[in-house]
Amino acid sequence: MSIQWFPGHMAKARRQVTEKLKLVDVVFELLDARLPISSRNPMMGEIVSQKPRVILLTKCDLADPKANKMWVEYFREQGVGVLEVDAKTGKGVNLIQSVTDKLLQPLFETRQRKGILTRRVRAMVLGIPNVGKSSLINRLAKRAATVTGDRPGVTKAQQWIKIGQNLELLDTPGILWPKFEDHGVGLRLALSGAIKEEILPIEEVAVHGISYLKERYATDLMTRYKLQDSALEQESYELLQEIGKKRGCIQRGGIVNTEKAAEIFLNDLQGGMIGRISFEYPGDEFFIEEQDVQR
Ligand code: G4P
Repeated sequence: MSIQWFPGHMAKARRQVTEKLKLVDVVFELLDARLPISSRNPMMGEIVSQKPRVILLTKCDLADPKANKMWVEYFREQGVGVLEVDAKTGKGVNLIQSVTDKLLQPLFETRQRKGILTRRVRAMVLGIPNVGKSSLINRLAKRAATVTGDRPGVTKAQQWIKIGQNLELLDTPGILWPKFEDHGVGLRLALSGAIKEEILPIEEVAVHGISYLKERYATDLMTRYKLQDSALEQESYELLQEIGKKRGCIQRGGIVNTEKAAEIFLNDLQGGMIGRISFEYPGDEFFIEEQDVQR
């Protein structure tokens, strides 16, 4: 699988984000709690650079609570603010202000020395497509705030969304794409639903997902599809066929429609029906290599 960024596209997104960064005191960097490394643009660190950052692990309701806890510790050790959030129910969202204020203490002290007493903070939401930027902005604003995408050739005055007394959000979230070149990253993004399935070989994605679940979430997988223990000895493609049979994806001649089975499996996985699944844990094998890219 090779889904490539157009270099011009990447440069433009980067330029736009860099421009907007000048307007804010802090960045809310949204990472999908299920795959915080793969859902991060590899240049994020470099682009955001010296700006204070609060990492918001989105869709934490879909991710494994055990992994969530490990990721919070992992990022906390790096000295950035970090929180699990669920924009669907609002979990964690009311803590954003206090975590941000704590992180920005040095800024407040500098302001105080200059006689500026305001604790008002301006923030920008930044993340890959589908990570939950609009949902979070709407949840913070307690309404469907008009989140406007960047339209080429249209210059508009910058709008700020007031959140309570001391927080203002840029109405346009910064969008940075993930790194697709790495096959593993692409597959994990596809499993999470961040990449639309039409551009991917859906059966390959599903087979990869089944292999992963067999390793780490075997009980959830077997319970969801009422599989016998012995099923785990089967190849993942055979398991996909088994799932297809259980879900009635049979074509004429008794052949299993594995494409349909893959669709059902991925819908279940992405909708949280199999369980709370995380695709990455700190310390995973892929991780060392990815970490190098992040720096
Ligand atoms: P974006 O602006 O970063 O592109 O992401 P957006 O908020 O549009 O969210 C992308 C999808 O993720 C939406 O689902 C949204 O409902 C879902 N989502 C966002 N935050 C959370 C969360 O904390 N938990 C869960 N479970 N889902 C979340 P969709 O299927 O595209 O639309 P819809 O289901 O809202 O109709």
